[in-house]
Amino acid sequence: MNAIRDIDSLVDPTHDELARQGFVSRLRKHIMKDVADDMRDAYDVKVKPAFLSEYGREPNSGEEVRDAIEDNLTYRVWSSLRYNAQEMVWDSVREEVERQLPDMISIADQAAQSSSHGGTLTLDPELKMPDYVDTLDVHLMPGCWQGEHADRDVAQGAIYAHGGLVFRGSLLPSKTRSGVAASVSKWLSIRFPDFKPEKILETGCTIGNNLFPYYDIFPDAELYGVDVAAPCLRYAHARAASRGVNAHFSQQNAETLDFPDNSFDLIVSSFFFHELSVKATKKTLAECRRLLRPGGMMVHMELPPASQVDAYYNFYLDWDNEHNNEPHYRDFRSQDCEDLMTSGGFDAEDCWTALIPDVGGATPEYFQQVALGEVPPPQHGNYTSWSLFGAIKPA
Ligand SMILES: C[S@@+](CC[C@H](N)C(=O)[O-])C[C@H]1O[C@@H](n2cnc3c(N)ncnc32)[C@H](O)[C@@H]1O
Repeated sequence: MNAIRDIDSLVDPTHDELARQGFVSRLRKHIMKDVADDMRDAYDVKVKPAFLSEYGREPNSGEEVRDAIEDNLTYRVWSSLRYNAQEMVWDSVREEVERQLPDMISIADQAAQSSSHGGTLTLDPELKMPDYVDTLDVHLMPGCWQGEHADRDVAQGAIYAHGGLVFRGSLLPSKTRSGVAASVSKWLSIRFPDFKPEKILETGCTIGNNLFPYYDIFPDAELYGVDVAAPCLRYAHARAASRGVNAHFSQQNAETLDFPDNSFDLIVSSFFFHELSVKATKKTLAECRRLLRPGGMMVHMELPPASQVDAYYNFYLDWDNEHNNEPHYRDFRSQDCEDLMTSGGFDAEDCWTALIPDVGGATPEYFQQVALGEVPPPQHGNYTSWSLFGAIKPA
C-alpha cells in the first residue's frame, strides 16, 4: 500500500497568492496590536472620562463599554478593518484550494479506503445539522464548517487549515506559540503524572489541530474526534493517515453521541463551546459525564468567563458576538463554568478552572511551576495563555 500523501502539502500558492496571504497576516497584526492600542488610548482618554462624568462611575460590563465606545472614530476604524481582514483571511486561500481540490479529494478518498494506519472515518449523511451551525457562516468563513459543493468535498477543511495559517500568522507572538493541545497535554502530564489516558475524545475536532498533539504526550492512546462537518472530518482523517496517527473520526452531534457509557479516559475540546447555544452546551457536558470512565477527566479550553476579566477586555473579546457570526459567544462567557458542569451532572467538588501559559511561549520552569500551582498563572490575552475548565468523574 502506498503511503498517503500529506494533504496539507498539496496547496501550491502562486507568487501573488503568497504576497496576498502575507499582507493579510500583517494587516491583522497591525489591527490587533497598533490600532487596538490606539483604541485603548481613545477609551482611557476620551470614552471612559465621558462615561464617568455622565454616570459618576466607570462602565462595569463589556456591553456598557461597547455602547460607550461605538461612536468613537478609532473604534470604528478598528472594527471595520477587523471585519474586512477576517473576510480577507478566507479569501486569500480560496483560489489555491479550488485549484487543488480534485487532488485533495482523491487523497482523502485514498485515506478513507486504506486501513493501513489503523484509523477510521465514519460519516452520517443523514445527520441533522444544529441550527447554530447551519444558519450562518461562523467566523465569516463562506460555507461554514459543513458546506459541500463537490462529491466527497474537503474544501471547508482545507480553507480552515490554510486560512488558519494566515490567521495565526497575525497573532502575537506567533513564533513561540505551541497551541492548546500541546499546552494542555503537557500540563496534564505535570499536574497528574499518574494519569495515562488510553482513549481520548475531542468534541468539535474540525481538522484535528488540537487532537493530534495528544499523541506526542500519550503515544499509546487511541484518539477519537467527533464533529458535525463532513468536509472537515475527511480532511482530518487524511491528515491522520499520512501522519500515521491512530485516530477515529465520526460525524456526530456532540449533544448526543453514539459511544457506550464509560468509553473515554479523557475528553477535550478547544474553541468549541462558545459556538454552541447554552442549552446545547449543557447537553454536551452531560454527554461528557456519561462517556467518561470512572476516574476519567474532561478538560475544555475556552475564552475566559466574563466574571474573570475586566469590562474593557469583555468588550474586546465579545466583539465576535456581533461581528464574527458567533451569536452565542457572550451568552457562553456570561455563564459560570462550575454551574455549567454541575448542570451536566458533575459534582461541584470535582470541577475546576485553570489558566495556563502556552507551553511554547513559556520557559519549561515557569510552565511547570504554574502547573504545580507554585506561582500565579499568567494573565489571559493574545493567545499566550489558555483558559480551561474541567472535571474529574470520581472513580
Ligand atoms: C471553532 S471550531 C473548533 C476548532 C477545533 N477544536 C480546533 O481547535 O482547531 C468548532 C467546530 O465544532 C463543530 N461543531 C459545532 N457544533 C457541533 C456539535 N454540536 N457537535 C459536534 N461538532 C460541532 C464545528 O463543525 C466546528 O468544526
